[in-house]
Amino acid sequence: MGEGVKSRLPAVTAMAHPNLALVKYWGQRDAARQLPLNASISVNLSGATTTTTVQFDAALEQDELELNGAPPSPAALARVSAHLQRIRDLAGSTACARVRSRNSFPAGIGIASSAAGFAALTLAGTRAAGLTLEARELSALARLGSGSACRSIPDGFAEWLVGSGEDSYAVQLAKPEHWNLQIVTVYFDPKPKAISSLEGHRAAPSSPFFEARLQQLGETLNTVRRAVLERDFGTLGMAVEREALSLHLIAMSSRVAEQPQLSGIYYWQPQTLALIHAVQRWRTEGLEVYFTLDAGPAVHLLVEAANRAALLEAVGGALGELGGQVLVSAPGMGARVVAGG
Ligand code: DP6
Repeated sequence: MGEGVKSRLPAVTAMAHPNLALVKYWGQRDAARQLPLNASISVNLSGATTTTTVQFDAALEQDELELNGAPPSPAALARVSAHLQRIRDLAGSTACARVRSRNSFPAGIGIASSAAGFAALTLAGTRAAGLTLEARELSALARLGSGSACRSIPDGFAEWLVGSGEDSYAVQLAKPEHWNLQIVTVYFDPKPKAISSLEGHRAAPSSPFFEARLQQLGETLNTVRRAVLERDFGTLGMAVEREALSLHLIAMSSRVAEQPQLSGIYYWQPQTLALIHAVQRWRTEGLEVYFTLDAGPAVHLLVEAANRAALLEAVGGALGELGGQVLVSAPGMGARVVAGG
């Protein structure tokens, strides 16, 4: 009995939100260490949550994972187990772990579940192993699981500093309550995307326009950072919209080494383009809304709180023709422990 109690540490549950990049991470300086080529800025999405419970138990022969109530794919288990190994190495432990993780949002809708997932796993896992890391250490560790996960550790708005190793982590730019922006994510038929963001990162430098993007990014980062701090919505929106288009121009002009039959990576679907046109029209008609896009067909719409109802009405009208569903968020909290630990 005494042995059993010692071999099984208390379970810890943590929650985290996915984050939406306002300035995107696209292209890696060092793939093995998940170091980005550029800094990026994001906001956590309060409307989507991942809740993860971790318990280390020396009686287990291998790590166990349950994802949304079902057994994981071998690839998902291997990725989680590699992350648990990083935590074991830090804690000097050899015990395997039981992990249960649940998303409040469907997979494949254009909201990166890996960011929220690895942020929650990093916090729950380190606490369950008896470690209490500083926010920046947690963020750097989460980055090794999934690059963008480092930005889901701080509350609210975050900037991921490029760094060269342990100093590649995200810091808070502003708290969630700093600015009650509303983010309306419009997503279509959940289906796995053809080209993963990992392949997109790898292919990015093959675009003849990639250098130009990197050169532009310093100014974009300054503009977006200042617009967030000063709550300057017009400046933020236009910079964020152009920045998303820059990522997609790179993707469309990238060469995917393993798929020479492709001329480029096309994440957009017809509905994506229809919404891009609708946003330009809505703005011309006086509704100040801006879009951003990640590596998929979903469109994230940004408005100030006063325009939320007007936007939802406009989107509702458009979705009558396009299909699709919406998820509404405000700036969300960072990763936090909700039970145990
Ligand atoms: C387009 O961090 O999701 O969303 O490390 O493979 O999980 P993995 O890649 P990930 O790449 C994010 C790409 C992006 C832009 C961004 O979030 O900055």
